[in-house]
Amino acid sequence: MSLFKKTLIKKNYKYKLLDDGISKEDISKAKNVLNSKQITMASQTRKFEETFAKKMGVKHALMVNSGSSANLLAIFAAGNPLRKNKLKKGDEVIIPVLCWSTSLWPLVQFGLKPVFIDIDPNTLNVNEDDLIKKINSRTKCIFLVNVHGNSCDLFKIRKIAKKKKIILIEDNCESLGSKLKNKHLGTFGDFGTFSFFYSHQITSGEGGMIVCNNDNDYEILFALRSHGWLGGTRFYPRRLKSYNYYAKKYPSLDPRYIFVNSGFNLRPTDIQAAIGLNQFKRLNKLILNRKQNRKLIIETLKKDRRWENQFQFIEPSKNINPSWMGLPIIIAKKYKKQKMKFLSYLDAKGIETRPIISGAFTNQPATKLYNLNPTKRKFNSAQSVQELGFLIGLHQNKISKDNLNLIKDSFLNIEKI
Ligand SMILES: Cc1ncc(COP(=O)(O)O)c(C=O)c1O
Repeated sequence: MSLFKKTLIKKNYKYKLLDDGISKEDISKAKNVLNSKQITMASQTRKFEETFAKKMGVKHALMVNSGSSANLLAIFAAGNPLRKNKLKKGDEVIIPVLCWSTSLWPLVQFGLKPVFIDIDPNTLNVNEDDLIKKINSRTKCIFLVNVHGNSCDLFKIRKIAKKKKIILIEDNCESLGSKLKNKHLGTFGDFGTFSFFYSHQITSGEGGMIVCNNDNDYEILFALRSHGWLGGTRFYPRRLKSYNYYAKKYPSLDPRYIFVNSGFNLRPTDIQAAIGLNQFKRLNKLILNRKQNRKLIIETLKKDRRWENQFQFIEPSKNINPSWMGLPIIIAKKYKKQKMKFLSYLDAKGIETRPIISGAFTNQPATKLYNLNPTKRKFNSAQSVQELGFLIGLHQNKISKDNLNLIKDSFLNIEKI
């Protein structure tokens, strides 16, 4: 704990998780929204959703205020009374143990039973064959997490899920822009979710998106996002197909204020949408820059005479064209004991680090609070990723020589820590 005391107040890292992520143009787009005084969800949100759906090759995209909200919506839509094939309380859901907190909690909040599976430490993602072996008659949903731009063979998983009528959800919050055989990750399942939080492929500060191809699912998501409200908000330029149906059926209600489902308020602001949309337009360039920075960092380390395989880097899975979020790094086993000291050293040198997602999530105290691993199962691969892994950022702009040297000299000093 004390090793990282300074991190809480220290903001002046030389190499941050994300640097200069918001452009002048992004700021000007945000200012335009402020000047228009139409801050709540409206035309910018709709425009971003349309542009996003088109590029991803899906029928519907719905913007929300975070990736966590997108996950919450995916689960509550998958279990909604308006859905034919729906999740019920107590149903089992397969989820990788290397997940983010809010990949998991919507399952628990809905009353589902998470069944954790281990990962492949070489890809950080589940192995499709291992996953398929875990499917049984109680499995009603597979909630995949595409970790750091990578995925398993989603074609294979999708085929089995379809055959067995298992709902497939992809938490793609870390992998916007990655493609498997030219198909975007996040578009394989019934629902796919995305995050635009700081240091993700694009950022709107806070923000997220959920995609689907089914009209009925979209109507459910639309209502759940905004109070269960048929009309969304008055400023949002889109009506549901069912609008006329409900307006006719309930003539005594003001048609603008009909509530057709349960609901949350997970709406983004138009400021977030304007920034997100502007970033999304340059996604291809950002992906390329991150790829080049990754290559530069790895080459610089490997070319140095002090390189002795002190670190391992995660490579793309088969047929993946990756869109990296950060640079996950696994240190050699012999340095396991000094990992925290090493991270603290990097911190002091001005290099910001973080864990790979949050390690094996069953190690987190919150899962004990809800008794989510009653048999105390061990997940050896995720455990080793937690013990040996950490992450540094990949920036949207080309990495400077100074930062490359800083990383090289600090990393290759690991022996002396
Ligand atoms: C896999 C995964 N799912 C969900 C989220 C939550 O996204 P947000 O921070 O936008 O709520 C994150 C956040 O980084 C994530 O890594």
